Amino acid sequence: MSARNRVNILMVDDQPAKLLSYEVILDELGENLIKATSGREALQLLLQNEIAVVLMDVSMPELDGFELAEMIHQHPRCQKTAIIFISAVHLTDLDQLKGYQRGAVDYISVPIIPELLRAKVSVFAELHRQAQQLETLNRELEQRVLERTEELDRKAETLQRLNSELRRKNQELDAIVQTAPDIIFSRQADGLRDYTSERFHEYTGALASSANGFGWLDYVHPEDRERSMALWMSCAQSGESYESEYRIRGKDGQYRWFRARAVPIRDPQGKVVKWYGTCSDIHDSKLLEHSMRDSAAELERMVDERTAALRRLSGRLMTMQDEERRRIARELHDGLGQELVAVKMMLNGVIQQDSTPRKNQAAIEATAMIDRAMKQVRSMSHLLHPPLLDEVGLLSALQWYLDGLTKRSGIETALDVQPPEFPRLTPELETAIFRIIQEALTNVFRHSGAHKGWVTLTHRETDVVVTVRDDGKGVEAQITELRPGSIGIGIGGMRQRAKEFGGELRLANSNPGTIVEVIVPSALPLSQKVSVTA
Ligand SMILES: Nc1ncnc2c1ncn2[C@@H]1O[C@H](COP(=O)(O)OP(=O)(O)OP(=O)(O)O)[C@@H](O)[C@H]1O
Ligand SMILES: [Mg+2]
Repeated sequence: MSARNRVNILMVDDQPAKLLSYEVILDELGENLIKATSGREALQLLLQNEIAVVLMDVSMPELDGFELAEMIHQHPRCQKTAIIFISAVHLTDLDQLKGYQRGAVDYISVPIIPELLRAKVSVFAELHRQAQQLETLNRELEQRVLERTEELDRKAETLQRLNSELRRKNQELDAIVQTAPDIIFSRQADGLRDYTSERFHEYTGALASSANGFGWLDYVHPEDRERSMALWMSCAQSGESYESEYRIRGKDGQYRWFRARAVPIRDPQGKVVKWYGTCSDIHDSKLLEHSMRDSAAELERMVDERTAALRRLSGRLMTMQDEERRRIARELHDGLGQELVAVKMMLNGVIQQDSTPRKNQAAIEATAMIDRAMKQVRSMSHLLHPPLLDEVGLLSALQWYLDGLTKRSGIETALDVQPPEFPRLTPELETAIFRIIQEALTNVFRHSGAHKGWVTLTHRETDVVVTVRDDGKGVEAQITELRPGSIGIGIGGMRQRAKEFGGELRLANSNPGTIVEVIVPSALPLSQKVSVTA
């Protein structure tokens, strides 16, 4: 038995020997045994300790057992204390009754039978212990009931507070729904509408709740109905947020554009239980957007037209420029050139007729000057428009030009043509290619510091590729990107000529040097090749 569960047993007798014998008998019960040798001492001990059983002698000198029992039971705390009297003398029934009246619960007469005493004391001690346990349990129970009651009170209070908060929130929500410019709606998990705010009925003139289910679709423009319905059903199935634009018919019969949005509300397991959404009037911004789109398209069309017109104009300008160059070349060749030939012939006649050495010397010098002038006129007219270009074609003209350039500049040049039997192209395309190569090589001469230049001309299935490469210093990135402001009339003109024929120009660094590449669709198919020797 643990010390905590032990109960106190008070043994009262004026004879210490008897107390000792009781102690020996009761010792094996394992309870706390307390001894008192007088009624007074017993009373004091009773007040200080909680006593389960009092074992007392009936006859004691100062205060006899009956008197002591009466005093014990008068004390409120001890009213239930079990008292067992031990009497040496035989007690009459009357004596016993007196004892019971004063609170005795049992009698034991001498000689004491130890087992009997132990059994009786143990029964009362057990009773007391159980009463004690019951009391503890009772106290605990009461405490628990108290705690529970407090907790319930607290919960009730919280619930009340939440309720009033909910009421307030509901009122706020009502106010928002009533005053919102948008239509507010809710739908069940299956997609059927179960609430549509007043704003919808105001706008459409529909009767209350007529928009529920799929009733709202009756007010959607027939052209938008299927699309928005299909989108809505797919969102209801996938649980993805819904957004759609459609027209809704107002009570005046006119349609306005609305944007509907809805989000799903899910339970803790993630299952969609409800949908909430709004429908906002976006008619004005939609019209603005449309008109802006129309204006942008119109603007784009105008820009395209202008660009085409400019392209035509620049094409014409280039053609005119080429024609003008051709005319000036012819004038120089046929006019000034012929005049100079005539003057030279006349001077030759003068030299033969008049042999004055001084005059003769002047005439000879004048003839040499005329020769140089004739050469210059010839070379100028050829550069303006190579006569070979019209007559024997692009390759001969190019070869003639490259030879001249090498002579004038010292830059070595090479022409590679693929296929060697290169076809004749249209006169316009041949002129354009000649001019492009001419400008590219002029740039090589003016800007690159190159020693060598390579020209290749390749005729493929559907296009002609022209490249001019040098071993000079190369070009900066902004020039290869053809950024306006960094390129001059030369590269601009090359690009324009390429565009004229539906082609394009590319510039790149070939490390070392620069590579200019032009690809233009060929006017002639490969089968119509004309054999030309360069
Ligand atoms: N082969 C090249 N090597 C190095 N730099 C070049 C080469 N070709 C062009 N460039 C650079 O690109 C620039 C633009 O060339 P573009 O032909 O457009 O104009 P430009 O030659 O300066 O003047 P113009 O309008 O008289 O032709 C040149 O000024 C030069 O700096
Ligand atoms: Mg140039």
